[in-house]
Amino acid sequence: MNATTWKEKLSAIRDSFSISVAKAPAESPEAIELRYLGRKGELALLLRDLKDIPIEERKVLGALGNTAKEEMTAKLDALKGASGPAGFVLKSDLDLTLPGWPFPKGSLHPLTHTMNRLAEGFLKLGFTMADGPLVEDDYHNFEALNFPPFHPARDMQDTFYVGVKDTSGKDMLLRTHTSPVQIRSMEKQDPPLRVFHTGRVFRSEAVDASHSFAFHQIEGLYVDKGVSMADLKWTVDAFMKDLFGSSVKTRFNPSYFPFVEPGAEVDMSCIFCKGANSAARCPVCKGTGWLELMGAGMVHPNVLKGCKYDPEKWSGFAFGGGIERFAMLLYGIGDMRMLYENDLRILKQVQ
Ligand code: PHE
Repeated sequence: MNATTWKEKLSAIRDSFSISVAKAPAESPEAIELRYLGRKGELALLLRDLKDIPIEERKVLGALGNTAKEEMTAKLDALKGASGPAGFVLKSDLDLTLPGWPFPKGSLHPLTHTMNRLAEGFLKLGFTMADGPLVEDDYHNFEALNFPPFHPARDMQDTFYVGVKDTSGKDMLLRTHTSPVQIRSMEKQDPPLRVFHTGRVFRSEAVDASHSFAFHQIEGLYVDKGVSMADLKWTVDAFMKDLFGSSVKTRFNPSYFPFVEPGAEVDMSCIFCKGANSAARCPVCKGTGWLELMGAGMVHPNVLKGCKYDPEKWSGFAFGGGIERFAMLLYGIGDMRMLYENDLRILKQVQ
């Protein structure tokens, strides 16, 4: 090959390189680089041909070749700089400070919200949070709470048994209420004590608008010297007012639970008809003006004794109730099943 042909070839390579660059991104900058400037690229092969050309001309052509290489490299660098990773073409008006894809934000479940609000209320009143297991033994769920074996109140609880025996040979069970946390707290701590707990409980019940086989309860327990029914009434009333507003009223009706004496059912004035008790029956309170919310009472001396608290010295109150009921009232949910169906249209309404 003579010098003239070599120069023509060089200029042909430069021309077709320029066309490739102009056509990008039809071809990626990396592919163009490989084709022209790679070790076996068109320019490299041409430079190899220089060996056949006399030394004097070779120097001049070599210099031309190197200049061409530098220019082509610079153009390729400019092309690479103009495109982002993986070949996305960046536009100059792209604002990198804008938020990314619109990822929808998750939110807490209405029941979790309710439990948090209940917890806030009791923490404010000086209660601390207690805990206990979901799979309980007969002792903590029944016996220590003054349900002797074969006591009829055991039947009321529709217990799920798990088919495993505890150390005393009795069937383990899914706790039917949160009251065993009272026992576990007293076993762990000497009096005085002021605790609450929120958590899941289980009863073998058919599911309907106000029942489920797995639901949640809140439990509270206060033991000290001279605690009375008046303390219980004040605490429950303050708590309900904190949750539903200062205009709600509470009332106690006599009731029976083996682990309290006296025992009561706590009613709150209906937050929908405001206790109007009108002829147009309120669908929530059924026209009674009152909503039944919790069980409560003074801790039975047998329960205190069983936990090695001297009932002559200490007295206490306990209360407990369903959290689903609170959630339904707080968020105006008419059917309990809505809380378990994970329908985002419902869940998203509570933020
Ligand atoms: N554990 C009772 C229930 O599940 C409620 C309750 C708690 C009653 C504490 C009195 C005191 O029905």
